[in-house]
Amino acid sequence: MGKNDQELFAELRIKDEIYKLPIVEGTVGDNAIDIRSLRKDCGHITYDNGLANTGSCRSNITFVDGDNGVLLYRGYAIEDIAENCSFVEVAYLLVHGKLPNAEELLSFRRYLNEHSMIHEDMQHFFNGMPPNSHPMAILSSMVTSLSSFYPHIMDGDPNFDVTAARLISKVRTIAAFSYKKSRGEPIVYPRHDLTYCANFLNMMFANPVKSYETNPDIVDALNKLLILHSDHEQNCSTSTVRMTSSSGVNLYASISAGISALWGPMHGGANQAVIEMLSMIQKDGNNLKKYVEMAKNKTAKFRLMGFGHAVYKNYDPRNRITKKLCDTLLPKLNIKDPLLDIALELEEIALKDDYFIERKLFPNVDFYSGILYRAMGIPTNMMTVMFAIGRLPGWIAHWKETSDNPEWKIWRPRQVYCGPPKQAFVKIDQRT
Ligand code: CMC
Repeated sequence: MGKNDQELFAELRIKDEIYKLPIVEGTVGDNAIDIRSLRKDCGHITYDNGLANTGSCRSNITFVDGDNGVLLYRGYAIEDIAENCSFVEVAYLLVHGKLPNAEELLSFRRYLNEHSMIHEDMQHFFNGMPPNSHPMAILSSMVTSLSSFYPHIMDGDPNFDVTAARLISKVRTIAAFSYKKSRGEPIVYPRHDLTYCANFLNMMFANPVKSYETNPDIVDALNKLLILHSDHEQNCSTSTVRMTSSSGVNLYASISAGISALWGPMHGGANQAVIEMLSMIQKDGNNLKKYVEMAKNKTAKFRLMGFGHAVYKNYDPRNRITKKLCDTLLPKLNIKDPLLDIALELEEIALKDDYFIERKLFPNVDFYSGILYRAMGIPTNMMTVMFAIGRLPGWIAHWKETSDNPEWKIWRPRQVYCGPPKQAFVKIDQRT
């Protein structure tokens, strides 16, 4: 690395030529080697399978220091945010870049209330879905279909604040409606007198013959869980949102792409997969060691779900919060969940095992979150939907950052082609 008139640069030698590449400095965390001119200047591209060493953008939203287990939203530590804010405040913080004052919060809440209903015609879509549809399939279809109900956003959005609030509010309604439809129960409409999380729980669990009494401990835990999910810089789904939006497509279509990316078990789908894994271990007589051994055996094609992280090579700070929440919420609700006992023991075994120590594999945010959702009555196949509701403000913030970027560019990576070189075409005789 060299320094030229205060400007940092890296030197790259290819054969006898030396190329100077500028260094892009972040506020904290990794600096980057700017390789944008690499192909033009020296005829090479970079190879980075999975993009794990590629800074795809400059961003002001979230900072993760995976080696030290640090997570900041707009500079605020996740521990402080989770302790002191509601999910709605955090949504405002992520989307608008600052914590709301009383007036801003009031007007954001008013938008959330005003836009909480979904068009009655959308019910046809719910009715058209087969009864056992996965709620993530319903959610991504419904979100992209919102573009048809608000076509004006396709020609530039005159009021982004309303569009963002509308989506944050409606996603919660869509999620609850999809649950009701899956149970064959009548839908419950949103209520203006309830807070964001209480409103969601009411839409999920009230029915025409029985009202739902919201429990403040559950509401508090739900706020915290959604906050923990709210953003996590350039993860798979957020990068999908950014890449999709780079084509200039509208917010709803981009978020729908993010929802699909989140669904995978390596990503947000891990919370569902953790509960399924813990249930399998329970059914199999709590033979924890067998599953730890299986996770270490490469031929078994089994991983400990909720363990490991692409960025955290230390304890995931979000997991510390969810674990503590399990300690407090379940006793308050008088719940003794055998899956929690299995999870606690599994964590203890894995953290002492050389395989997990050497690879720096720690429990991630999904390891205990499913147990908390279970305690709230959220069914297993809705757990990734909960993650999506939480992640939405982050996706919106990244969509906005991409769209407003003065260096805006369509995302179009290159590849190292390894297929056959040009070959002569020989027509195959298809006659039998
Ligand atoms: N169980 C067993 N072995 C694992 C696990 C696991 N959960 N995770 C990673 N490894 C091993 C992996 O086999 C590899 O071993 P080796 O070096 O011998 O080949 C090594 O650890 C590194 O794995 P990797 O796949 O290169 O690591 P990654 O950073 O690319 O993968 C991950 C990250 C999250 C996809 C992976 O840890 C995993 O599959 N975990 C289970 C799924 C999960 O819990 N996902 C939720 C992630 S947190 C929520 C979110 O933000 O999405």
